[in-house]
Amino acid sequence: MDDRKRIAILTSGGDCPGLNAVIRAAVAAAYNLNWEVIGFVDGFEGMLNPVRYRKLDARGCAGILSLGGTILGTTNRGRFAGKVAEGQKARVPDDIMLEAKRTLEGLGVSATIVIGGDGSLTTAEQLQEWGMPVVGVPKTIDNDLSATAMTFGFDSATQVVCESLDRLHTTAASHRRVLVVEVMGRHAGWIALHGGVAGAADAILIPEIPYSLEAICKFVDRRFEEGYLSTMIVVAEGAKPEGGDISLKGKGGTEHRLGGIGETLATQIMEETGRETRAVVLGHLQRGGQPTTLDRMLGTRFGVAAVDLIREEKFGQMVSYQNYEIGSVPIAEAVGQLKTVNPAGQVVRIAKEIGIHFGQ
Ligand code: F6P
Repeated sequence: MDDRKRIAILTSGGDCPGLNAVIRAAVAAAYNLNWEVIGFVDGFEGMLNPVRYRKLDARGCAGILSLGGTILGTTNRGRFAGKVAEGQKARVPDDIMLEAKRTLEGLGVSATIVIGGDGSLTTAEQLQEWGMPVVGVPKTIDNDLSATAMTFGFDSATQVVCESLDRLHTTAASHRRVLVVEVMGRHAGWIALHGGVAGAADAILIPEIPYSLEAICKFVDRRFEEGYLSTMIVVAEGAKPEGGDISLKGKGGTEHRLGGIGETLATQIMEETGRETRAVVLGHLQRGGQPTTLDRMLGTRFGVAAVDLIREEKFGQMVSYQNYEIGSVPIAEAVGQLKTVNPAGQVVRIAKEIGIHFGQ
């Protein structure tokens, strides 16, 4: 090992467009400071036996800006526990923390950049508590992290929703159908709301506004009576009926897997209205592919800001985006509180004013 300062970087949790933009920018900024960068493979798992990491340099990161996914690999399962459920914090067992600490000390890592969502940043906070300096970079297509106005990946995901709706509108109208499009987002309705408004959805169902099946069916009937050829309903995977529960596909690792609401709702609408209804689940299409310009910019700015935090020794901080500027907040303040859609907020209000139905 040479005597340059050595930092580590890792990507954790679900992949999302823009991760490689952060890696590339952080590596380039560190390189300019004459620091060495290693990237742990498969998130925190790479810190544990058998330890897996790659040396990263600016030349090796050429060409990755436009790539989806993460060149380092990631996991949202494994020995480091992730988010458990809304509002809950998972604690990683002490023996795992100790093993990670030994790895970092053994490799001479002076600080680690953790790129992740709520669960991964909770783990980062624990590393910091155990005396391993970290800085956080918020990531999630769900856009549900408080303390940052936006996470990268969200814009790319909503772009996929929007483009998919553009395609689905034509087939729905040709067949005079109701289409129910299930989108991701866990317990927050951001992807459904923004993708739905941008993609001209007729109804948007989000976790923050429990829906009435009766109201939706009346809306569907009214539209066909008024001469509309189709009805496009975007439903967030975490949406739930009034007085009911969210649909779960089962438990994967420490996290519940959401999903199934699209098919359930399509069947119910078809039964109640007699209108031909189809469900489409966009699933992981929303997480793949090239990042949008906005996500490339946000990722690049976050990557450089993370290195700046290390240079300034502001450990335990997470970079954040507020009022068009990049700043930072304590990780401890940023995790554990979901940023959800305000049902009385401006975007919902605007959507209602143009006739979008929210299932009430
Ligand atoms: O948190 C990002 C996300 O894509 C959610 O929107 C979704 O519920 C979940 O991850 C899916 O996770 P997995 O890829 O493990 O099925």
